[in-house]
Formats: sequence, C-alpha cells, structure tokens
Amino acid sequence: MSEARIIDGKAYAAAIIGEIAAEVAGLKFQPGLAVVLVGHDPASQVYVRNKAKQTVAVGMKSVEHRLGAEVLQDELLALVAALNADAGIHGILVQLPLPAQIDSAAVLDAIDPAKDVDGFHVVNAGRLAAGLPGLVPCTPLGCLLLLKAALGDLSGLEAVVVGRSNIVGKPVAQLLLRENCTVTMAHSRTRNLPEVCRRADILVAAVGKAEMIRGNWIKPGAAVIDVGINRVPAENGKTRLVGDVAFEEAKAVAGWITPVPGGVGPMTIACLLRNTLEAAKKAALF
Ligand code: GUN
Repeated sequence: MSEARIIDGKAYAAAIIGEIAAEVAGLKFQPGLAVVLVGHDPASQVYVRNKAKQTVAVGMKSVEHRLGAEVLQDELLALVAALNADAGIHGILVQLPLPAQIDSAAVLDAIDPAKDVDGFHVVNAGRLAAGLPGLVPCTPLGCLLLLKAALGDLSGLEAVVVGRSNIVGKPVAQLLLRENCTVTMAHSRTRNLPEVCRRADILVAAVGKAEMIRGNWIKPGAAVIDVGINRVPAENGKTRLVGDVAFEEAKAVAGWITPVPGGVGPMTIACLLRNTLEAAKKAALF
C-alpha cells in the first residue's frame, strides 16, 4: 500500500480566496465583516488578526471591536444589536471562547441569523439539521470542501466523526449526512473507539487531543481529516503544532490525509469569507 496523498488545504483555501476577491471586485458595494474579540486570549488574538488581514486582502471592509475581559453581558448584547442594525455590516463574528460571566449561547443567538457568518445561531444550526439552506459553520464547511475535492461523490461512504462539539463535530456530521454518507458520531464515552474508527472510509478527528488517533485505528485507504490544532513541546525547547491524528503513522495507512498545519486550518478563514460574501449578496437583494 502506498502512502496517503496529502490534501493541501492551504492551496485549496488560496484558490477559494482568489475567487472571492474576484467576485468582490465586481460588486457595486463593499461587503463588511465585524469581528468582536473579548479579553486577551493569545490564540484568539492571532485568529482575529489573521481574519482581519484576509478580509481586507479580498477587498472587504473589516471592523474589529475589542472589549475588556470584564465586559458585562448587556454591553456585549448592545454591541451585537448595533452591528445587527448597521447596513454596512453583512457578517458578524463573536470570537469564542467568551469569559465565564458571559452566556455564550445568548450572545450567539442575539446575532441576526442573516449575518451569522459563523453559522452558530440556533436558527442556522436548526436549518442545517433540517436540510434547509442557511449559513453553515466555517470549519465543517472547509472539511466538506476538502473531502469533495479529494473524493468527489461521498454518497454511501462510512463516515466517523470523533468529537461532538457544536462548532465542529455536530455540523460536520450534518453536512456528511446531507452528502448521503452513513454517519457515526463518536466521542469521549464511545466504547471501542479504535474499532469504530476502523470502520470509516472518512474519518474526521475533532477532539482537541494531540495525536490521539493512531495509525492502527485507520482503515487502509481512508480519507482522514484532522481538525485538531494542538501545541506540544518540541525537542529544541520550543513548541510545535500537531493535530488529533498521529500524522506519520496515519499517512502510512490512509489514502488521503490533511496535514497540521496547512490542512483544515486555512479553510476556516476561506469559508468565513465565503459566508460573508454570501450574506452580503443576499442582503443586497432586499
Ligand atoms: N474560536 C475557535 N474557532 C472559532 C470559530 O470558528 N469561530 C468563532 N467565533 N470563534 C472560534
């Protein structure tokens, strides 16, 4: 059996971003994306900076709101209400996680579903579950686009999703079901997890545990999508990023695999911009 083919998310994301930039250039108005960052979480700051940079690079307007970690729920809700009412803003993203005093679900559900470019609003989650059109979460959409680019038609394939978060696991499972996969959702309480994973033609790992999924958990020839981004110590006293899958072991068994970094990660921002463009074009129809 030959080594797995690498799914180059970075290149695929760059192609999507190029298409978005070309479409934005042809619009009669400028789409606007507002990002709200609460507190000083270093990883969130990096994400938000990257999002702003890429938003501007495709010709969209980027607006950033930074609030202190001690912000009150009502202040955050007032900001969301103002962004909902702002006709120049087509997409709103509240960076997660939020501090403990904030009810995250209440904040996400205060966003106008038509501007909910993260796809986290309960209305958009419900639309996805019901098979109706709506804004779809960015990382799951990125996973699906990579799988379709690699495999083409996914119909009838056995898909196992490890992880059941609202941000990745659940929406990925819904998207794969929509593509006519036979979907199993596995999680921390799943019995015989390696055995369940070995059934998968498509294995999506979204657990947040460094290199938890081993090579011998993978069916030969399977497509492995690694959503994990875990920072671990490296030999030289520095740190390095690894996924939820033991990459070298998995590569020897799988048919396709996404690397970390350079796999799913770059697709998240590409899909965020895609969602913002979609929201903006819809708003322009009214
Ligand atoms: N924090 C980590 N990933 C995400 C994401 O996709 N969206 C938001 N809003 N926050 C996040």
